[in-house]
Amino acid sequence: MVEFIDKYLSDNEWLIADHEYSSELQNVRETQFALGNGYVGSRGILEEKPEGSMPGTFFAGIYDFTGAEVEELVNAPEPFHFKVMAPEGEKLGAAAMNIVKHSRWLDMQKGLLARKTVYSSVNHGKFDYQSLRFISMSNPNIAVIRVYITPLDKKTEFTIRSFVDTSVFNKGLVTEGDKKHFHIEEYEKKGNNNYLRVETLEKEIPISYATRIVVRKGRKKHVESHRVFKILLRKNETACITKYISFIAQRNKLQKDIKKETLKLLKNATTNGFDKLLESHASAWKKIWQNSDIKIKGDNDALKALRFNIYHLVISSPHTDLDVGIGAKGLVGEGYRGHVFWDSEIFDLPFFIYTNPVIAKNLLMYRCRRIDKAREIARKKGFMGAMFPWESADKGVEVTPSWYKDIKGKIKQVLTGHLEHHITADIAFGMYHYFQATNDIRFFLKYGLEIILSAAQFWASRVKYNKKMKKYEILDVISPDEFHEHVNNSAFTNIIASWNLKIAVTLVKTLRRKFPKQIHALLDRLKVDEKAMRQWFKIGSGIFIPVSKRTGIIESFQGYFKRKNVSIKESDHRFLPIMPKGITNDNIQSTQLIKQADIIMLFHVLPEMFSYNQKKINFYFYETKTMHQSSLSAAIHGIIASEFSNLNKAYKYFLLSLNADLHDVYGNTKNGIHAASLGGTWQVVFHGFCGIRILGNILHIDPHLPGHWKNVNLVFRLKSHKISVEINHKKASVKLHAVKREHLNIVVFGRQERIAANRLYTFINK
Ligand code: BGC
Repeated sequence: MVEFIDKYLSDNEWLIADHEYSSELQNVRETQFALGNGYVGSRGILEEKPEGSMPGTFFAGIYDFTGAEVEELVNAPEPFHFKVMAPEGEKLGAAAMNIVKHSRWLDMQKGLLARKTVYSSVNHGKFDYQSLRFISMSNPNIAVIRVYITPLDKKTEFTIRSFVDTSVFNKGLVTEGDKKHFHIEEYEKKGNNNYLRVETLEKEIPISYATRIVVRKGRKKHVESHRVFKILLRKNETACITKYISFIAQRNKLQKDIKKETLKLLKNATTNGFDKLLESHASAWKKIWQNSDIKIKGDNDALKALRFNIYHLVISSPHTDLDVGIGAKGLVGEGYRGHVFWDSEIFDLPFFIYTNPVIAKNLLMYRCRRIDKAREIARKKGFMGAMFPWESADKGVEVTPSWYKDIKGKIKQVLTGHLEHHITADIAFGMYHYFQATNDIRFFLKYGLEIILSAAQFWASRVKYNKKMKKYEILDVISPDEFHEHVNNSAFTNIIASWNLKIAVTLVKTLRRKFPKQIHALLDRLKVDEKAMRQWFKIGSGIFIPVSKRTGIIESFQGYFKRKNVSIKESDHRFLPIMPKGITNDNIQSTQLIKQADIIMLFHVLPEMFSYNQKKINFYFYETKTMHQSSLSAAIHGIIASEFSNLNKAYKYFLLSLNADLHDVYGNTKNGIHAASLGGTWQVVFHGFCGIRILGNILHIDPHLPGHWKNVNLVFRLKSHKISVEINHKKASVKLHAVKREHLNIVVFGRQERIAANRLYTFINK
């Protein structure tokens, strides 16, 4: 048999393959095999939409409120829908036929989803069905699907139905139930094309689609303008059907005539044709990989799985300035309703800072544009400055729902939206990290610094002075460990708030020497004077941090040590802790068990504030208390364990994070990708195993590779330069790619060196 789609696919090391047709796994595969380009994300549902499938097409930033408690990402019409029927009602699909063979491949190098299925039917024998689809990375408004159909036993007349599936809706599985967030405004056949415009209900955002179908049989080719049409094929004759799709989701109403634009995009796409579109799409992906691939030798599984994590980060992120953050489940599922958490700044942002700073800036601009809303939140709660919402969508207001159903089906109140305040400092940290690594002073003076100062204003008004202790306190919060609510003096919150207050002062002092006008204008605008800054410094230095004097263990929050001393004794085969006997979600608050990295998170975000010994003591203590019930947790433990060269352990945590979605470790991959875990996984390799960090404004490379890794090769960006690094157990080679006279101070294996541009430097691991 002719192999149609094979010629398009990359080498095996770039393919995630599935060779089994499983209805139980289909929703998980839909998430794993999703396509996207940051403008739109599309779950990898099988074209015929089998029973139980969860179609999902999500346009970045298109949220709707109707019928939901809070704004949620709209599940928009699905454009890849393609139904093929043999006579006698035999639909090509698992419901009406037997599946003889079935394989799918996600080609991560080229951003393709490919499929081969052989069906057998009662009346017409066997059929070969193949498909290939992509959402263009070079033209964000274009997608294409090509389908090959061949009857293997008999001449058959097929009825084909294909347009854009409008029967989709938000399933709202763990929320209010199903909701349709759009209605159809226009649906028409326009010459050779078909056109659809829907509008979201609340904000009336138009989403417009145009499609054209081209059918090729042997040398004959024609445009098929009907949405339902017939094709007669002889035994072993193949029809190749290509559907070109253009779409626009128009958040900004002032744009041009959406219909005209959508049809124009479609015309350009069809004029270019399949091969050209594919070529420019694949070459856009090639560029992305040139800047972000990490080549690991000695661990092919990790290499492929890491690529899977990077692939999903790339398809969920704003490649152009779309005014969006990265949702907790990317753009490929309804989980967390597409909301943006601290995951975006602390977990995902670093990958972009070091591989594609333009995307990093786009992510930060999403927060900067919502500073007024953050000010409003602070004002309404009686605070100063800006206080960012724990969950954010389009408007920038707090969108954390007030309730949820737990695993046992019990309705519970959600308090994070009221109490998880550390997000404001996390966002400030994101601004700082970006500036530190890119030196993008224009952005920083215009936007980034304002966030840091406004966040400092917030913290200064948020703290309470405790006269007896002579310390500043932050009362009544939830820390990253969400098991304990209404806690006082969470170490994570207090320490990152203290960092925020102090760095604000340091930055003003340093930058005003060089940019006096801009800094004074900003301080005037924010009404920050010298007295306020002195106060910030005083508070930052005087915040209460609960630490046991005897053991040196930082107390997760005040009174934590008095909670029941329960420790984790065993883990399952994936290295996920098993809940100690007698502990349930209802009584966990009374114990020392914590949900996820909390104190350990501090060691990662603010590594210079803690000694090696302090980190080590705390790591081993909190390891026995951390349930890793959030997918954010394992990666952070992996990073810190690699710092102590406990590589056996670091690697286990790495695997947990690496495979969170590939192996559906948390059992909810069907609801979308764990975006924070993707970024965390990358950080284990970059910051952890490769030991790349900016410390004291100097680039440090202090590798600790897992024993069986032979070698790691990567490139990254720093202050507009490209740096390539090759690491093995004995040495690290570093090259700065820059114009001739550039130099860079770096510390590798503890040895400081000033390296010149375009020369290879090799450092020996002594
Ligand atoms: C975690 C949070 C995280 C959120 C979204 C929660 O389960 O505890 O830290 O921000 O999921 O990923």
